[in-house]
Amino acid sequence: MKTLERICEDNKTDKFQHGYCPVYDKYFNKYRDQEINFVEIGVFEGNSIRAWLEYFPKAQIFALDVYEKSHLFNDPRIHFFHMDASQEDCINNLMAEIAKITNRKKIDLLVDDGSHFQYDQMNSLGYIFPFIESAGIYAIEDIVYERDLKSGSQWWGHSGEPHHSVAGECHLGSQIRTDKEWLAGDEINYENCTDATLGRFLENKTLDSRYLTKSQNQYISKNTKHISIYDDSTLTCPSKLCFISKK
Ligand SMILES: C[S@@+](CC[C@H](N)C(=O)[O-])C[C@H]1O[C@@H](n2cnc3c(N)ncnc32)[C@H](O)[C@@H]1O
Repeated sequence: MKTLERICEDNKTDKFQHGYCPVYDKYFNKYRDQEINFVEIGVFEGNSIRAWLEYFPKAQIFALDVYEKSHLFNDPRIHFFHMDASQEDCINNLMAEIAKITNRKKIDLLVDDGSHFQYDQMNSLGYIFPFIESAGIYAIEDIVYERDLKSGSQWWGHSGEPHHSVAGECHLGSQIRTDKEWLAGDEINYENCTDATLGRFLENKTLDSRYLTKSQNQYISKNTKHISIYDDSTLTCPSKLCFISKK
């Protein structure tokens, strides 16, 4: 059986270069032969979606993007949704469609490889986590270090500049949010970035994201079994990867 590393290399997704594959395999391997509902936020050229299709031969793969990408796929197990994954109504529509297709309104595994903006990462988590199946996993990629935001990194929204590679798509696609929206009020408060918020969650077992309502924070805190965060001591990229396992 091909390894995830080999599959990602063959499909030319940067999950290979970033050193994500061994970590993903650790969490996802036991689902390989199961009829799961798998969701990835962020399609770009479709490379990772094709990789997941190969890695999970019995899964239904739901691929979400703010850009129309349906022309990239021609497989009955890939279902493309043209939507903003940080919007509640879009998530509700997605779940209704997942229920129609699979007779189950649940997601077993999710990877957020969308805009990587603080606002989007937290809102998607808040709206989607209730639909994660018991014992399922919610992964967030490319979490920018708090220290890099502090030192003025132009990655992922801090400066209001178009962020990283991908031909500016993520920037345009998610209508870049200004600093004010991911910082507290008009103050610069790095405690609200995803890195710091998840770091506290790891320590205190309590989520306190400024982007989420009290009940969303409480739901996620109460229903999380385990959270693991991988950094550059394991990965080969300047960002973090987080796995939130549901009870
Ligand atoms: C890093 S690329 C995805 C790469 C792909 N997962 C891979 O590994 O080959 C990010 C994608 O997320 C999409 N995106 C950005 N913001 C989004 C949002 N709010 N909802 C859904 N997709 C979004 C962008 O249009 C872009 O295609």
